[in-house]
Amino acid sequence: RRLAVLISGNGTNLQALINAQNTPSLPNTHIILVLSNRKHAYGLTRASTATPPIPTTHLALQPFLKAHPDKTREDYDLEVARKLVRVKPDAVVCAGWMHIVSEGFLDVLKGVRVLDGEEPVEREIPVINIHPALFGQFDGAHAVERGFEAFQRGEVGELGVMVHRVVREVDRGEPLVQRRVEVFKGERIEDYEERLHKVEWEVIVEATRMVLDEVRP
Ligand code: GRF
Repeated sequence: RRLAVLISGNGTNLQALINAQNTPSLPNTHIILVLSNRKHAYGLTRASTATPPIPTTHLALQPFLKAHPDKTREDYDLEVARKLVRVKPDAVVCAGWMHIVSEGFLDVLKGVRVLDGEEPVEREIPVINIHPALFGQFDGAHAVERGFEAFQRGEVGELGVMVHRVVREVDRGEPLVQRRVEVFKGERIEDYEERLHKVEWEVIVEATRMVLDEVRP
């Protein structure tokens, strides 16, 4: 099965997927492209230094808009979608992709919109995203900090991580996997984050396997 991964930063979730390729937790699967919106994202290095090396590409939003003053944010997303459909992935994983994908992007991957010069996708390419909060808890940015502070203030009883399907509403797609993360009153956020990331690395592999088993058992 062919997997494409979108990243923006360190890429530890990507690393978990790289390590899981063709193992019992992610059988018969290889990552065929890693795409970053930041040229210097360390995740690109993780991909290019993997064995075997994983093809990478990057497309930054601001340089794209500067180079094409007539184009919009949505056009940027369509170019990201173009790069993805060209390598014919079975699924796309947003592993720390810090952009909100637009409708056009999802329509291209769904096959309801065909980009000029590209063939239509034969089958919908599902997109999943990892989010460091439980479903409906802390949608959007800085979810880790917001959740941790809310817990310390006694406003929430539990925290966790989820991987969900990407739909139009931000972080609102059906969760594929959710897992609680232990958190303690008075602890340092760094200790909580370390615990959280370890859980992320498990759930991102599990959810990726689930979505690939749906489209290519
Ligand atoms: C993760 O915490 C993920 O939940 C969030 O962005 C972070 C990406 O971390 N969406 P990394 O780049 O995979 O290390």
